[in-house]
Amino acid sequence: MRRIASRHRPALAMAALLAAAAATTGAAAPPRGEGMPPLPPPRAVPGVNAPDMYPHGCIDCHLNYQDLGMDVRISTHMKQWCAGAGEALLAAAADAAPAGVALTGRHPDVADALADIPGACLACHGEQATDAPPFARLMHRIHLEPRPDNPFLSMFQGECTHCHKLDLASGAWHLPSGPER
Ligand code: HEC
Ligand code: HEC
Ligand code: HEC
Repeated sequence: MRRIASRHRPALAMAALLAAAAATTGAAAPPRGEGMPPLPPPRAVPGVNAPDMYPHGCIDCHLNYQDLGMDVRISTHMKQWCAGAGEALLAAAADAAPAGVALTGRHPDVADALADIPGACLACHGEQATDAPPFARLMHRIHLEPRPDNPFLSMFQGECTHCHKLDLASGAWHLPSGPER
């Protein structure tokens, strides 16, 4: 109890100050002190206060970018994983796998799952998965790895809302899913 109280003491002191200020002026407590610089503009969060370029999540970003000569469709990746996942991906998968699971480095044939990404993947990669890395860990482990050359952090700014969609009206999150294009 005492530790919690002392951790919150600065916040409590601030609240008391604001309340006292409000009592003397009769106005609503200002959100900041006189010495504070102007607030910076809000951070643009896709799907919150900025356009969402990937409303369907995975399948809107993992495309065949023909002009760039870059095919990053999940089906194209899947062919590679079935032949043998690369070293970096396998290391990530091992980090995200349940304790005691020894990965083979070869993905089982799941062509049907491409009709519903990530919904159908989650049948095997759900939170209770016992022989595959749960996506709740694998997706974050892959996309949010803090390497300077990670394109999800640079090109895509590491936005949670590229995958997780917020219904602003209700405050509920959901994960969109659908067939690959
Ligand atoms: C806005 C773009 C974007 C979205 C949305 C997105 N990804 Fe990715 N994904 C990337 C990028 C960029 C990389 C490469 C990361 C790296 O090189 O470390 C990547 C890498 C991956 C990889 C590793 C590929 C490999 O062979 O190494 C997998 C698997 C993957 N994504 C699956 C998904 C799934 C499933 C979803 C939806 C739940 C998803 N991604 C959503 C951009 C995206
Ligand atoms: C039938 C179950 C099943 C389905 C469906 C499935 N996976 Fe997997 N996945 C596995 C298993 C098992 C492994 C572990 C393979 C190993 O031992 O390396 C795995 C591993 C992976 C890995 C790590 C690389 C590797 O091969 O070890 C990635 C990435 C992956 N899955 C992505 C996906 C995506 C994306 C989908 C949906 C399009 C999907 N998986 C659907 C069972 C499944
Ligand atoms: C590349 C897609 C992707 C990105 C980016 C992403 N997530 Fe997720 N997240 C997923 C998937 C897939 C699941 C698993 C959903 C399931 O199992 O039903 C998940 C699950 C979760 C969960 C519930 C499970 C858990 O681990 O507690 C939380 C919380 C979460 N994500 C938070 C975040 C936050 C915060 C960010 C940004 C910093 C983020 N995610 C970025 C794809 C993503």
